[in-house]
Amino acid sequence: MKILAIDTSCDDTSSAVVADNAVASNIIMSQDEIHKNYGGIVPEIAARAHFLHIAGAVKKALFIAGNTFDDIDKVAVTKGPGLIGSLLVGVSYAKGIAYRFDKKLVGINHLEGHLYAPFIGKTVKYPFIGLVVSGGHTALYKVLNGNDIRMIGRTLDDAAGECLDKTARLWGLGYPGGKAIDIMSRTGNPKQFKFPRIAFLNGNFSFSGLKTAAIRFSADNPSAVKNDIANVTASFLEAIVDTLILHSVKACKKENIDRLVISGGVSANKRLRAKMRRTCDGELIELILPDTEFTTDNAAMIGYTAFLKGESESADMNATSSIVL
Ligand code: KG4
Ligand code: ZN
Repeated sequence: MKILAIDTSCDDTSSAVVADNAVASNIIMSQDEIHKNYGGIVPEIAARAHFLHIAGAVKKALFIAGNTFDDIDKVAVTKGPGLIGSLLVGVSYAKGIAYRFDKKLVGINHLEGHLYAPFIGKTVKYPFIGLVVSGGHTALYKVLNGNDIRMIGRTLDDAAGECLDKTARLWGLGYPGGKAIDIMSRTGNPKQFKFPRIAFLNGNFSFSGLKTAAIRFSADNPSAVKNDIANVTASFLEAIVDTLILHSVKACKKENIDRLVISGGVSANKRLRAKMRRTCDGELIELILPDTEFTTDNAAMIGYTAFLKGESESADMNATSSIVL
């Protein structure tokens, strides 16, 4: 089964060719250089950039895989959730290809793509607790099998990535902020400053309070932000890392599932990966992390999820900005 996949859910134009569970190509055309001028993603500019780059991304994905449209069995595209203008570019393009080359078309939920990304190239192991932690989402899922995915916790306000991005902007660290904080914090002491760990008993997250704490910290400690940024970012990141670990491990225990899968852009974070690994080893939980290439938005995870699902949808499938999983 050879699948041509497209993801234009947010600000990266991505296309991949997935042959069964192996990735033959995975092209990601980042828009960071455009959006960094605004300090965040501007939806209309993102949609226009997708429109400019989608044909090139698909062509390159096919070329690197050594394929043409004729070799493809199925076209898979992210149908949501995401920015509607961005989604519509990918969905329209995928529909065009499917119609022109008479291929099956399948619409994939972007969050399901993230959930399965750590299994790319491997076999999925059920059951598992899945933590999707990105710029748009922070949620925990109980996954019993491909047809039984239940959300068991989510952020009530900001996503963890959003909290990292906005705070990095506040501290003038550049864009995208999660990666900037990851790098900046590596030489810092995570115990130097205190930031709150906000957790709810029912398993939900909240990160807006931490964002406010960062604003207050800046007002109270301007010299620390100016002269001690490694320690400040390490301490701030540690609050996010600890909260994510606490909730994920708690979910594993509560649901009696000893397998944890982490995905989404923030799962690229070096400190989160290392501390989660240590904690899971201590708790005898099997931790499955994605290759860094498959943490942030990519079409390979969409193609791989389409391969797992093995079903197809009709060509009137549509983009929806707010579908849930
Ligand atoms: O999965 P993704 O590409 O897009 C969404 O679906 O939201 O995630 C993007 C998020 C951004 O908030 C970005 O700052 C964060 O992932 N991110 C990181 C790292 N790389 C990307 N956060 C922490 N450490 C990183 N190394
Ligand atoms: Zn994503």
